[in-house]
Amino acid sequence: MENRQLTIFFDKLKQVIQDKTLIKMVLSNQRNHSSDLKSIIISIVEIKTGERINFVFRHKTNDITKNYGVEEAVLLIRKALEDDFLNADLFSGDENFRLLITEHGKVKIRSNQSLLKPASGFTHDHRKERIVATQNNVYLRELGVLNDRFEVRHNMNDKYLQINNYIELLEPFIRELDLPDGFHVADMGSGKGYLTFALYDYLTNVLGKAAVMTGVESRAELVKLSNEIASKAAFTNLKFICGTIQEVTLEKTDLLIALHACDTATDDAIYRGITSGASLIVCAPCCHKQVRKDFHATNELKSITRHGILEERQAEIITDAIRALIMEAHGYKTKIFEFISTEHTPKNLMIVGRKLSKPPARQGKQLEQIRAIKELFGVKRHYLEELFGTRSN
Ligand SMILES: C[S@@+](CC[C@H](N)C(=O)[O-])C[C@H]1O[C@@H](n2cnc3c(N)ncnc32)[C@H](O)[C@@H]1O
Repeated sequence: MENRQLTIFFDKLKQVIQDKTLIKMVLSNQRNHSSDLKSIIISIVEIKTGERINFVFRHKTNDITKNYGVEEAVLLIRKALEDDFLNADLFSGDENFRLLITEHGKVKIRSNQSLLKPASGFTHDHRKERIVATQNNVYLRELGVLNDRFEVRHNMNDKYLQINNYIELLEPFIRELDLPDGFHVADMGSGKGYLTFALYDYLTNVLGKAAVMTGVESRAELVKLSNEIASKAAFTNLKFICGTIQEVTLEKTDLLIALHACDTATDDAIYRGITSGASLIVCAPCCHKQVRKDFHATNELKSITRHGILEERQAEIITDAIRALIMEAHGYKTKIFEFISTEHTPKNLMIVGRKLSKPPARQGKQLEQIRAIKELFGVKRHYLEELFGTRSN
């Protein structure tokens, strides 16, 4: 089977293996539907003897895993596309490609970028300079994102890109702030601390600011691990404390972050940010269970919310819209946007609140809007509203 599109695709495959930007490749859409082999998942692995290409052969009832050298792997992929599968999805750091073979043997390539034009495509060494540097980056090594040679591990490419994406996204909001020396940053629900370390690194080493940062996390083992890594990285003004977002004692907070803090923990974080007068509040809500439990549409909306997934989406929209209105009522200018492709996670909304120098003239306006939304959707309670003791019905 030879074809120009196939040649382009295989050149791309070899390139992403060589550049180490291959995240994974999936061969699917069986040629023979009765075959026991359903798909093959291919990725790069590092083993003691060096790099190998890992194949997971997905059969109906079991998986078989094998490692191959690069040349052998490329031959096997070619053979699998000739004999077994019609599709190949290639995921790499910067671009994704789909190879489609029709039943008549026509080959097409789809890309999420326009890099497939022969004249401009496949230039070598196009790796982008990232905002989170890998060179001598102790925290990323300790977190397992980098290997001992400070190179991104193949299976952590996605994580590394996500960390960069997050800092790039925060950058314009942070640059807008007039932060005093020694300003305080709180990361609520810091988890393993990937983003906490990256933000501290960015603030202190890229922007040269004297930041004091605290990661708040309820899981003691993560707090211990993160404090050990902060010490190894010599991040002297970064500490992690074990406690809950609701109760932890913080000196003050100028900038508050809460990424994927579960359910109402996002509300607790917003509450802490507003009440401490934080200049910037950045949240990526996680699940929206509270409002979902507490809304019961009795009007035409019932025909929408009777579908579980639509009810879930509706709960997300109502929860976050009310959160934004409450922030606005307390003098914040808000922005809600998608911060990462839904391919990575469906929980991809970010709410950013920037404290205005002048409080709003009429706080009541937002409270009226909240009341109207609640009435329309039959929402009985919103946890953040209750924290402020301003229930609007
Ligand atoms: C999904 S993880 C996100 C971690 C990190 N922010 C990130 O985005 O990579 C949520 C973390 O928040 C912590 N958490 C949830 N509710 C909390 C609360 N009320 N107080 C403190 N930590 C909380 C969990 O233990 C978990 O580690």
